[in-house]
Amino acid sequence: MRRLIIAGNWKMNKTVSEARELATALKLELKDITDLDMVICPPFTDLDSVSQIIGDTNIALGAQNMYWKLEGAFTGEISPMMLRDLGVRFVIVGHSERRQYFGETNQIVNKRLKAALKYGFNPIFCIGENLKEREENKTFEILTDHLENGLKDLNELDLPRIIIAYEPVWAIGTGRTATPEMAEEAHHFIRKKLTEIFSKDLADGMRIQYGGSVKPQNAKELLMQPDIDGALVGGASLEARDFIKIIKIGREILNK
Ligand code: PGA
Repeated sequence: MRRLIIAGNWKMNKTVSEARELATALKLELKDITDLDMVICPPFTDLDSVSQIIGDTNIALGAQNMYWKLEGAFTGEISPMMLRDLGVRFVIVGHSERRQYFGETNQIVNKRLKAALKYGFNPIFCIGENLKEREENKTFEILTDHLENGLKDLNELDLPRIIIAYEPVWAIGTGRTATPEMAEEAHHFIRKKLTEIFSKDLADGMRIQYGGSVKPQNAKELLMQPDIDGALVGGASLEARDFIKIIKIGREILNK
């Protein structure tokens, strides 16, 4: 059985005081939940404060990016040790906004992924096609490229720690969601590809989240799909009420 995992990606939102407020609201409602994994990924500047608030709860802390070197002359970057020190356990790697606006290639993503695994994190590895690629029927080709090159030369023993997030770029922050059928088709393909690259056992154990305009109104149908093991939530994770609702929807599905 794959354990459901719901993560909030706050992106470049929330000052420290706003982050404290949101984390406190989430803690109040979610602190005792143990039947699924919950992660929140605030910006770097909020990690310390949020860590202090959620430290003794079942809500795990994630970062939105990470450099692959431990220290040195890398102006503007954040190292694995710095994140570990703050209680960060998850790291988003290869988000489409990093690929699109900051020139991240599969090679860079692969370096970050390896470093995240080496230093004991659970990477949330994002993949997905943009609108043009979808319209040109290249979705599977892009997913194959992201998977084969992003996961290159990894130690198979580390694979169960990776969470894959399928995020069709055209559905991120646009209000357009993939239909549950479209999402399931992509997730099924990803699992098939993982079976080819690694093995059926490993692929069956790996968790694949869906991301792209997930909100309380569409979470149930998406999370009910057999190959969808959670959600990576952007916009709706900025409102305590919405994120809590999505977690509760996840729990209802578990209890069916
Ligand atoms: P969205 O973002 O939910 O706002 O579409 C998802 C993501 O980019 O992780």
